[in-house]
Amino acid sequence: MSKTLLSIFLASALSTAAQAGSRAYQAIDPDDFVYVDGLRLKDSQGLHYLTGLNYWACMNLAADKSQGGNYSRLVTELDQMAAKGVNHLRIMASSEGAPTPQPFRMNPALMQSPGQYNEKVFQGLDICLDEMSQRGMRATMTLADEWQWSGGFAQYISWATNKTIPYPSSWNMTKPPQRPVPGTGWGDYTNETDGAASYEVFEDFANQLYTNAQAEQWYKAHIKTVINRKNTVNGRVYKDDATIMTWQLANEPQTQVGGGPEASDPLIAWIDRISTYIRSLAPKQLINVGLESKQGEAYFKLVHNFSTVDYATSHCWVQNWGIYDMYDSSTAGLQAAQDFATAFVQNTSRWAVEIGKPIFLEEFGMARDNWQNRNMTYPYLSSATTTHKDAYFETIIGAAMDQFKGDGAYVGTCPWAYGGIWRPETQHMNEFGMVWAGDPPHEAPGWYDLYDTDEAMNIVARQQEDIADWIEENGL
Ligand SMILES: *[C@@H]1O[C@H](CO)[C@@H](O)[C@H](O)[C@H]1NC(C)=O
Ligand SMILES: *[C@@H]1O[C@H](CO)[C@@H](O)[C@H](O)[C@H]1NC(C)=O
Ligand SMILES: *[C@@H]1O[C@H](CO)[C@@H](O)[C@H](O)[C@H]1NC(C)=O
Ligand SMILES: *[C@@H]1O[C@H](CO)[C@@H](O)[C@H](O)[C@H]1NC(C)=O
Ligand SMILES: *[C@@H]1O[C@H](CO)[C@@H](O)[C@H](O)[C@H]1NC(C)=O
Ligand SMILES: *[C@@H]1O[C@H](CO)[C@@H](O)[C@H](O)[C@H]1NC(C)=O
Ligand SMILES: *[C@@H]1O[C@H](CO)[C@@H](O)[C@H](O)[C@H]1NC(C)=O
Repeated sequence: MSKTLLSIFLASALSTAAQAGSRAYQAIDPDDFVYVDGLRLKDSQGLHYLTGLNYWACMNLAADKSQGGNYSRLVTELDQMAAKGVNHLRIMASSEGAPTPQPFRMNPALMQSPGQYNEKVFQGLDICLDEMSQRGMRATMTLADEWQWSGGFAQYISWATNKTIPYPSSWNMTKPPQRPVPGTGWGDYTNETDGAASYEVFEDFANQLYTNAQAEQWYKAHIKTVINRKNTVNGRVYKDDATIMTWQLANEPQTQVGGGPEASDPLIAWIDRISTYIRSLAPKQLINVGLESKQGEAYFKLVHNFSTVDYATSHCWVQNWGIYDMYDSSTAGLQAAQDFATAFVQNTSRWAVEIGKPIFLEEFGMARDNWQNRNMTYPYLSSATTTHKDAYFETIIGAAMDQFKGDGAYVGTCPWAYGGIWRPETQHMNEFGMVWAGDPPHEAPGWYDLYDTDEAMNIVARQQEDIADWIEENGL
């Protein structure tokens, strides 16, 4: 055995000793970059399946207490996820907003004004990545947001034009009904009376990002800053750290509601420009767009048809898209959701096969059995059971696994979103107005949360075990 091999052997023997529950995981070797091989992802161990979870608030939870962070919650939840075999987290590597409290969004923001960073939140991102790396988890790093909950496109445009953001209906924790103890909710969505704009108006505003030169310059400057960031915990430069698997252009970029699939959409040229820029700065890591892939085949193929886009993504939202009603306890309602999700996974897998790229199911969720909460003080109480959600998760995760084991293009799943130890019943806003539920600040806290005690986490764990066994049996 050569000296190098011996030291690698010793290093991996040490890191394999890390244990959580009954499971062993191995720390990420900073040089072990995930790469695309045909319709699959691989790393030094061979075939790499993504057992993912959305954990978008990681940098804020990991930040200093003075910035609203909670390190003990962070490590508790990372340990919980690692114990369920989770090897991938989709996290925010961006958030934009003034240092003064802003409604409906992550606070404090990473970027307070163009080029001005909250260094303590940035250190939170360093801590998050280092803790993930130790637990064998790699990251998708989301660099901007179509939606209001992290500042996102709309904040860049507001900075560039000096115009006020026309916020659409969003969750306001201090709106009636209020619980007796201030700061504990419940709250409600804002409406027209509160001055909420339509989603069409909001998207038209936000989507100026695709054509506003000033906003694009600031956004590209952010990309450069984060890619070249040196981690203050472990000294690794982000672009040289295999813990970062993927740079994602944005969360759910799209043209306006019902926008068509023409190649002339400014979105398409923007994807080309930005993905080319990221590749030039971070050639060892992967790039994706962050598309929901809800707009059909032609749009899907246009968006992903760049050599600088390494794999496709899909998000499946049966309640938001009107296929499922969380107050309908009927089996027929559940069945409709399961049928839709199965067809959605099969369709998107086929499209991805046709363009020769892998695809990652990086968002999906379902409410709890909230018909049980209908007459309660809050419709999203954690006391409701999860019979529909569990059956739905078995179906949609199973559909992606079937594609992976067969000749489809799916390479993993990533439910929305880990709330861990948080519960609506015990929530209390911190000094920044945040509760850090799995649901982001513009939506009802507890709607799509996955809690540490939820059966969904066992479904996630069984997925990882099943795939690991299958890979071993097939010698892949
Ligand atoms: C921080 O997390 C711990 C759990 O690790 C929890 O008990 C505590 O209440 C949290 N603190 C705040 C201020 O949220
Ligand atoms: C926005 O305001 C700033 C400072 O007041 C000014 O420098 C800038 O030119 C304004 N931009 C636009 C597009 O009006
Ligand atoms: C939230 O609701 C409270 C109480 O109704 C109201 O005073 C406040 O202006 C609202 N905030 C926003 C941003 O709409
Ligand atoms: C909109 O919200 C206001 C309180 O901010 C409330 O009085 C009104 O009933 C709501 N309107 C609708 C249509 O829900
Ligand atoms: C993808 O791009 C190539 C050129 O790079 C073009 O020939 C092809 O038609 C495009 N396919 C789609 C579906 O847009
Ligand atoms: C899947 O594709 C078929 C045929 O192309 C289409 O009829 C169906 O609506 C699609 N279903 C979903 C959920 O995308
Ligand atoms: C909720 O209240 C309505 C009307 O008062 C009643 O018909 C319904 O059965 C109740 N639902 C539950 C789940 O208790």
